[in-house]
Amino acid sequence: SAEEQMYRPNSHFTPKKGWMNDPNGMFYLNSTYHLFFQHTPFQSVPDFSKMHWGHAISKDLIKWQELTPAIAYDEKGAIFSGSAVVDKDNTSGFGDGKNIPVVAIFTYHDMKKEKAGEIDAQSQAIAYSLDNGKTWTKYSNNPVLKNPGIKDFRDPKVFWDAKRKQWVMGVAAQDRQHFYASKNLKDWVFLSEFGKDVGGHGGVWECPDLFPIKVEGTNEEKWVLIVNINPGGPNGGSAAQYFVGDFDGKTFKMDTLFTKQLQKEKVAWLDMGRDNYASVSFDNVPDNKRVIIGWMSNWDYAQEVPTNQWRGSTTIARELKLVKKENNYSLISAPVSELENYTAKSFTKKKITAREKITLSEANKIDLTKAVVNLNLKDLEAETYTFVLSNKEGETLSFGINNAENYLFVDRSKSGKNNFSDKFSMPITKANLDQTFLEGTFKIILDKTSIEIFFNNGEKVMTEIFFNSSPFTQLDLVSKGELNVKKLKINQLNIN
Ligand code: FRU
Repeated sequence: SAEEQMYRPNSHFTPKKGWMNDPNGMFYLNSTYHLFFQHTPFQSVPDFSKMHWGHAISKDLIKWQELTPAIAYDEKGAIFSGSAVVDKDNTSGFGDGKNIPVVAIFTYHDMKKEKAGEIDAQSQAIAYSLDNGKTWTKYSNNPVLKNPGIKDFRDPKVFWDAKRKQWVMGVAAQDRQHFYASKNLKDWVFLSEFGKDVGGHGGVWECPDLFPIKVEGTNEEKWVLIVNINPGGPNGGSAAQYFVGDFDGKTFKMDTLFTKQLQKEKVAWLDMGRDNYASVSFDNVPDNKRVIIGWMSNWDYAQEVPTNQWRGSTTIARELKLVKKENNYSLISAPVSELENYTAKSFTKKKITAREKITLSEANKIDLTKAVVNLNLKDLEAETYTFVLSNKEGETLSFGINNAENYLFVDRSKSGKNNFSDKFSMPITKANLDQTFLEGTFKIILDKTSIEIFFNNGEKVMTEIFFNSSPFTQLDLVSKGELNVKKLKINQLNIN
């Protein structure tokens, strides 16, 4: 269909049919990455009483193949978000002696209870797979964690705490975070609460993720807690925040430096764009890599975006690193290196010092609906650098850096269709920077309907979607003040 042609992404996962929101239960096993996702297969708007876990697999986190939905709703409720773990030691007893059990931990959402105004509509339950996530058996004694009297009690993320030899579950509880422990994934005991007076509280906490991570270039280990929040994001609607600290097997405590940092910035955000939600990480990735994928949309307008066959896509898979600089911690995220394997050809231009309008599709046969644009800026003296993508209809998507007032920005207000929701179009989306830069790099992943901007190797990230009438073919480099682009390199991706 025309819609398929125009909007179906090239390098991002979308379900063939139906609705998708959060990534769920991601894990790696037997050379394969598994992605599950909140899915209503039969319609492109969510049915919260009939939510499934959809399923897709990949060898390299880039190219995905959709399989049939993995876990379906039943009489106990819809299958809401959650995680999956590779239970190598068969602590659950679900193993059959031949195959490693993979255990999914999800939220049952009981619509009947919710409609009746009962507080305990959400509880945590498990299912296991002995065939690499293809088919699942729900545990007969579900739920494994009953509702303690908290209306929003969901999105269990479980990991193996090797030091304490226990499974730990982080679960979102209203606008807090609760932790539980278990030896067998079936019996859970309460450990602790986190989050009362810290971080963003403009909405409900959802989809948490706690994991250990090495501080880059050192042997120091820290723990990072990602907490998604809706609404209350930095530019409105849903977004992901994070905390840096330590976990002793019971309690997550914020690091003292990070606590000071938060006194200044209030909230540390994973992505400053409008469209990266429910980001959580994979279980069991080799070499201790921490890889995340998010849902590339926002509850502010997700149900109204102008696609009909399907709705929703994922962000590009990103690897997280924790960097400590001048007593500040920051979680940086960059596209996984596997993306580079898809570079078919590239276009390079050096030393651009005057405004330049580059027509890509004609001159170089570069298709900006599957491209990675790398921009190296030097001697950043100008006040603003604006990069404008445009098409033959004159629609524009602009982004760049305001170096006088220290922020990055994206402006999609003239990028095409935007009247489907009042909340979709705002004049500009900003990401505050805490300093002025002399040099800066931008890595920009472009697809048919999305832009993902990684500034200075992922120190700041902005992800946004748009719906233009025809592909962007021009890149215009504009500056207020002297322009100085050391290098522009566009890699054409060959993904299909
Ligand atoms: C986050 C979320 C989760 C919930 C799921 C329902 O986007 O609201 O908290 O489990 O989506 O689809």
